[in-house]
Amino acid sequence: MADLSTDLRLATAAHVSYIQSLDTRRDEYDYWLTEHLRLNGVYWGSTALHLLGHPDALGREDTIEFLLSCQDEASGGFGAAPGHDPHMLYTVSAVQTFALLDALDVLDSRGAGGGRRKVVDFIASLQNRETGSFTGDEWGEEDTRFLYGAFNALSLLGRLDESTIDVTAAVNHVAACANFDGGYGLTPGAESHSGQIFTCVGALTIAGRQDLIEDVDKLGRWLSERQVACGGLNGRPEKKEDVCYSWWVLSSLAMINRTHWIDRDKLIGFILQCQDMENGGISDRPGDMVDVFHTLFGLTGLSLLGYPGLEEVDPVYCLPKKVTTRILDKK
Ligand code: FPP
Ligand code: ZN
Repeated sequence: MADLSTDLRLATAAHVSYIQSLDTRRDEYDYWLTEHLRLNGVYWGSTALHLLGHPDALGREDTIEFLLSCQDEASGGFGAAPGHDPHMLYTVSAVQTFALLDALDVLDSRGAGGGRRKVVDFIASLQNRETGSFTGDEWGEEDTRFLYGAFNALSLLGRLDESTIDVTAAVNHVAACANFDGGYGLTPGAESHSGQIFTCVGALTIAGRQDLIEDVDKLGRWLSERQVACGGLNGRPEKKEDVCYSWWVLSSLAMINRTHWIDRDKLIGFILQCQDMENGGISDRPGDMVDVFHTLFGLTGLSLLGYPGLEEVDPVYCLPKKVTTRILDKK
């Protein structure tokens, strides 16, 4: 167990205040600088608060109103902030946040005309039926992040099936992104990267097709080799450790039941060192500026490691396990 006796403890109250403070900084330059990430920020912050056991620290109704204000009436997709173009990643963050708040029904009652079906159609329209892959918007490149996002959101909406998208072509595309080293890249032939491994293993897990992973031990070995001397995890060989890989790497190991292949106590120690103990928040590395992205992924990492006092996170969906159980077990 990590040394929890002194300042190496989780600063729960400070993290809650830090996340609450994020939306009250409208007069600061940074607030507007990050407008292109606003909806993602709401998902990251809200999920972090639920994992910390403070689900009501941001107003539920205000959050729902904000999500709805980001929906594009014409396409049904969501943008990063009101008036921004719709995109897969923000649409996924919106669906996840509605799920988190037990508010998926709001899409039908108060969302763009057509309700959930409109959102489902937007996501399905982004599949390239020839390659099985997905783009982020109508202009963009294909990337396994978008394929994973489509699987995540469609399954939460109860619509991941062949009548919505070509699931078989999509999982075959994921299998084609596998590399000889056991990992996965962004497209077929691209270098293995822990973030892309998360998306590929996540998509295969959601589809119930982990049988397409050729050598699970080889994948597990590549992932466990991401731990460096200080205890943190990196995203690729020769790269620096970074708190967010506590999520991308560890969730992938969790999906293949191999989290015990890394040194738990050393990783807990590394994540705890990245906290701002006074003002809250977690940074990528000790001493750096905190942000809400690394705050969420530090907490999800600790949750996967069974750190006391945190809600259990679902390694596939990046939502509290009790949320995904409620939604997915209902069907
Ligand atoms: C690393 O990014 C991470 C990835 C490539 C995976 C991102 C996955 C999504 C956006 C899908 C939705 C995710 C969730 C949790 C629901 P990076 O650009 O920081 O990589 P770098 O460290 O190489 O710069
Ligand atoms: Zn990072």
